[in-house]
Order: sequence, then structure tokens, then C-alpha cells
Amino acid sequence: MTLPGSTHVAYRGDTLFVEDCSVADLAKRFGTPLYVYSQTAMREAASAWQRALAGRDHLVCYAMKANSSLAVLQTFVEAGCGFDIVSGGELERVLAAGADARKVVFSGVGKTRAEMQRALQVGVLCFNVESEAELDVLSAVASASGRTARVSLRVNPDVDAGTHPYISTGLKANKFGVSHERAVDVYRRAAALPGIEVAGIDCHIGSQITEIGPYLDALDRVLDLVDAVEATGLRLHHLDLGGGLGITYTDETPPAADALVEALLQRIDERGHGHRRILFEPGRSMVGNAGVLASEVLYLKPGEAKNFCIVDAAMNDLVRPAMYQAWMGIVACRLRNEAPVTYDVVGPICESGDWLGRDRALAVQAGDLLAVLSAGAYCMSMAGNYNSRGRAAEVMVAGSQSWLIREREQPSELFRGERLLPKR
Ligand code: LLP
Repeated sequence: MTLPGSTHVAYRGDTLFVEDCSVADLAKRFGTPLYVYSQTAMREAASAWQRALAGRDHLVCYAMKANSSLAVLQTFVEAGCGFDIVSGGELERVLAAGADARKVVFSGVGKTRAEMQRALQVGVLCFNVESEAELDVLSAVASASGRTARVSLRVNPDVDAGTHPYISTGLKANKFGVSHERAVDVYRRAAALPGIEVAGIDCHIGSQITEIGPYLDALDRVLDLVDAVEATGLRLHHLDLGGGLGITYTDETPPAADALVEALLQRIDERGHGHRRILFEPGRSMVGNAGVLASEVLYLKPGEAKNFCIVDAAMNDLVRPAMYQAWMGIVACRLRNEAPVTYDVVGPICESGDWLGRDRALAVQAGDLLAVLSAGAYCMSMAGNYNSRGRAAEVMVAGSQSWLIREREQPSELFRGERLLPKR
């Protein structure tokens, strides 16, 4: 049985493996719910982006919001990647994982003064500025600390990435970026502000994009702007083309990273911009297909309208189905030679929205293990504590080796830092 999209996740006989480790064995050792990642899959994903950029001045900045666990970040530090961050918390995390601040780009519409100060202090490569108001604050913060902020403007190319409305970001109606129309003026203002050095241009049009077309449209709009900005005498050194490349959850057929990069580089060269440094900010495509979430079946609950398969993972562990109606593959960690039954796979949380998959044909019994596939991106990093549930443990696998990279969160950790009122 082949599993859509997943790399290094496959059945051997009736048993599901991540690389050379059986998921059931890992679950027995570390408990469930348990995230299991293939480090080889992550390394291969990084090198697919890097391969196509070889021979050019480039930096692949892993968008760490997709999965910010330290050992995942460390894997990409070792692969030579840079990082795209969106908060002071992500900055501290990536520094703790050993990243070089000079390979970090700082995105996001709501950077605080304190975040800017810290990013300037450690010397990040670039601030991707999203508004004129932010530019003014950054100029003030940089000047006050006697430092210079390298900036690129995130421009909004107003192209439709053809993706889910919640994860589409390059339309005029989105909160992101500076409008195409305003961009030249804002660059001129930026160049005149103290503490600001114009370094590049940036765009990101959405996530889970499965075609090259929207990227080329956005690129053309960005290159038009580069020409217009440079006609004013300013220089833009780098082009940051964002992230957004989709993965296969079911039957999507996104381009491979190297095919996408090649198509974009070809257009960049044709239009005479081949001398520029190229940055990308991929998140999902670096980690999405590298992970599974293993969960134990607690109860089977047959019903008149629906059969429910109640598992020990819930929307706090993996929110994508509840939040975006996302479809994620769910398979048994050991195949049974029994007729499948159609179930809604749901968690223990007291919400009807707490589901992982609907109408799934599964041959399972209580006590069996299921795996949610393609759960490496936007799953653990979006996990929470609703219903006072501790976050899952995580394991990294490489070949037959496995390491616990995050301990299961214990109940007492959930209320650490809280205080009872004094007795009155
Ligand atoms: N750069 C910027 C400025 C971004 O906002 C994002 C993602 C990325 C890069 C990385 O995009 P990727 O390569 O991962 O598509 N939670 C949603 C996805 C939200 C994406 C937010 N921005 C999900 O689970 O589908």
C-alpha cells in the first residue's frame, strides 16, 4: 500500500514504518499521542530547494512556524539553511537551536518594539517590513540603539494563489504587505529614513500552492517593481520569493521544489535579474510529509448516523482538520485482515469540532494505533492545551535510530506560573 505524499513513511508487510523504525514500537516506548519525524525526509526536502539554487548566491530560509521544535531547527541549521521568523519567541528558539542570526529574516505584520530591538541586537539579516507605520517604528528603534536595520518591503502582488482563504495572503483584501501601487514611494521614504538600509524585496502569496502559475504571476509583478524602484536610483540586492509550496495530503500534485525553483530562476534570468541574491521561505514543503502523529484507539462507538473511532489525540494536538476542514490521511499502524468500517475519527475534547478525519474506512479495534499522515507541518507547532491536555511527545528518526526530542508535557507544567488568590 503506497501512502500519498509521505516520504520515508511506508508499510513493511502489515506494519507502518518511519525510516527503519516501526511506529508501533516507538509508541510503545514513548506513549501516545506521539509525533514521529523522519530526519532524512527533512534533509532531502532542504536539499531539493538548495539543489536548484546551487551556483547562485542564495539562502533557503526555513519558515519555522511550520514546525519549530528545536531538533527540527537543528536539522536545518546543519543543512545550511537560514530561517524565516515571525516573533521574538521564534528568534529565541532558533538561536537556542544554534542558528546564525545573520541568516534570519524577520517577517510579520505586528512586530513589537522589543522584538525589533532584540533582532537588531543579534543582527538579523533582514526585516521584511509590512507597512509604512512599521517602517517608521523600526527606523526610530534602530536609530535609538545606534544600529541599522536592513529591510525589504513585503509587497502584495495581488495575485490569487488559488488556495484556502485562511492561508491565502497575496490578495489586496489580505492584511499582509505593502500594496503594489504604494511600493515605489515607500521604498523612497525608507531610503531617506535614519537607521534603515534598503536591502531587498519580498513577497509571499499564500500556502499549500499546487501550481507554478501564481508564483510566476507574482514574480513578474515583483520584477516590475524592482525595475521601477531601481529607476529611482535605489538598489535592491535580494529577491525573497516567500514560501507557500504545497505538499500531497491526498491527490494534490504540487511541483517538486527544484522544478518550481528552476521555472522561477529561468524567468528571473530572462528578465535580466540573474545577478540578484535569491531567498525563499519554505515551511510546509520542508517538513510536512516528514512526520506522522501516532494515536491510540480508545473506544469504538457505533451509532445510527455515524460510527465514531475515539482516539487519544485531539484538536489540541492537531488542529488543521477542525480549523481548515483540512483532509489528512489516517492509517492503521498495523494492518488487520478484517473488513473496514467507516468511522469519524475524533478526539476526547468536548467539542463537536474535535475531529481528525471524517468518513474513513478503517479496520481497527480498541487498543490499535492509528497514524495521521503528513503531520510534520503546522501540527505540533499549532498545538495547544485546551481541556488541560499536555502537548504530545516528539521523536526524531534517522535510519534505525530514534531520539525523544520533546518530552510529553505533564499536567503540573500546564499550571506552572499560575497563582491562587490570597485567602481572604
Ligand atoms: N513566509 C511567510 C511570510 C509566511 O506567512 C508563511 C506561512 C511562510 C513563509 C511559509 O509558508 P509555507 O511554505 O509553509 O506554505 N497553518 C496553515 C498554514 C499557514 C501559513 C502561514 N504563513 C496550515 O496549517 O495550512
